[in-house]
Amino acid sequence: MNEKVSALLNDQINKEFYSAYLYLDMANFYTRKGLDGFANWYEIQAKEEQDHAMLMYRYLQNNDETVTLEAIAKPDKTFESLMDPLKAGFEHEKYVTSLINNIYAAASKENDYRTVQFLDWFVKEQGEEEKNAMDLINKMELFGDDTRSLYMLNNELAARVYSAPSLTL
Ligand code: FEO
Repeated sequence: MNEKVSALLNDQINKEFYSAYLYLDMANFYTRKGLDGFANWYEIQAKEEQDHAMLMYRYLQNNDETVTLEAIAKPDKTFESLMDPLKAGFEHEKYVTSLINNIYAAASKENDYRTVQFLDWFVKEQGEEEKNAMDLINKMELFGDDTRSLYMLNNELAARVYSAPSLTL
């Protein structure tokens, strides 16, 4: 594998674990606010991010590349309003999309079609991640100021269940 592509994928493992950590911190915020449904939604989001990291970890190993695990940064966002994590989550997903696109571009440039094909799943996944984040913001804008509606929204988010990624290696 091209050195740059391998290094970008290795770095992305760290970024995905950081994403998991960030979402866990958001879950932690909502737990403290008494919104267990929101907390559930973000705890599942954190699990998905760990899955993303593990897919990249395994992909590199399967291609005989060395995986180097680096320190995971402390989540550095502070949240005050109930909307804050939702907006931060959306911004974060747009950033992750740019990272995936960057790796995709590097792999394409090197004619590394195996990695391009591997990343196709992530490109689609990022579309879903951004949409989910936008939907949450829209719902909060519509219903967040009304306590009964917020209670129902919390119940809706409590119903989210974890499912393993559709991509297997
Ligand atoms: Fe792994 Fe939320 O992107």
